[in-house]
Amino acid sequence: MFSKIVTTIAFLVISTISLNASNFNKEAEKDRLEMIKYFEAKFEDAAKNQARFFPYSDAQELETKYEKNLKFLDFNIGSYAYAKDAKFQYDELKEMPPYEDAIEKGEELYTKPFLNGNSLQTCFPDLTIAGTFPYYDEKTKKMVSLTSAINDCLRSNGEKEWGTRKGSMAEFQAYFLNESKEAGKIFDIKIESQAQKDAYERGKEYYYTQRGYLKLACSNCHVDGAGKRVRNEILSPLVGQVTHFPVYRLKWDEIGTLERRISGCVVDQGQVPPKDESQEMIELLYFLAYMSNGLPVDGPDVRK
Ligand code: HEC
Repeated sequence: MFSKIVTTIAFLVISTISLNASNFNKEAEKDRLEMIKYFEAKFEDAAKNQARFFPYSDAQELETKYEKNLKFLDFNIGSYAYAKDAKFQYDELKEMPPYEDAIEKGEELYTKPFLNGNSLQTCFPDLTIAGTFPYYDEKTKKMVSLTSAINDCLRSNGEKEWGTRKGSMAEFQAYFLNESKEAGKIFDIKIESQAQKDAYERGKEYYYTQRGYLKLACSNCHVDGAGKRVRNEILSPLVGQVTHFPVYRLKWDEIGTLERRISGCVVDQGQVPPKDESQEMIELLYFLAYMSNGLPVDGPDVRK
């Protein structure tokens, strides 16, 4: 009798837990699907949708310079999905990708022994998991990004941590991402507990909060603004914005990390960016990565 009650209670507890586990991402999933619907509608035909999405753009330009009928997967290359001229230059750059060198350097770093005999390979035996970062570490109760995981590995082995913007960090990530890409992996971010749901919500809030004297939020430029022209650039969409990092940027003349790119945008907003390994930054990355769920891992890549 007693054991039967215990079994029943255990069953109830377990089924409630699993029920919740499948539910924690409910809102996030709704956000993601709505966002895809929004971008697909917007770029079905930019000229035809001018009144709704591009009231201040040039009708002629919308008709001739924008790709039509875009679907979810197209957004994996950012604004190159719709900006025809920029896509042409991008294709030319891809013929001799300037990031090949970084991938090779990253491969050397992977097996280079630390002083204690371990290596990055000890911490990352499987390099096909790039699309699962950031994730929530149940033990430390902290969000972990690819960048913080790499530096945690170095620190815990008594090595000096790397700068989070370029050099070895960006090179090793280039190799890591490339291995995941070649294995055909997609972004697969999980939200499976209240703590993870809260982290997602905070990242989302950061994205939609207006900052600086211009009162601009990330979303003003990369949701409402996606497809519009700012100076000489066409703004990229939130969906697919982080799948291809690190990038070799012509402006940098070298390869750099996602944190470096995002910090540039925050500085342009007139604000001080969160530290690259801070929970605030990683929660923002978590939101961004979730919004790219289902898209192929596609880094490294090249950008203007
Ligand atoms: C004033 C407009 C503006 C705001 C606000 C802004 N960005 Fe950007 N962002 C740009 C421009 C311009 C580019 C370069 C063109 C492009 O790819 O969108 C860019 C590029 C990016 C890229 C690289 C896209 C790629 O395909 O390589 C990411 C990621 C990004 N922004 C994230 C953010 C985040 C996160 C925020 C908020 C913290 C933000 N941006 C705020 C204008 C903005």
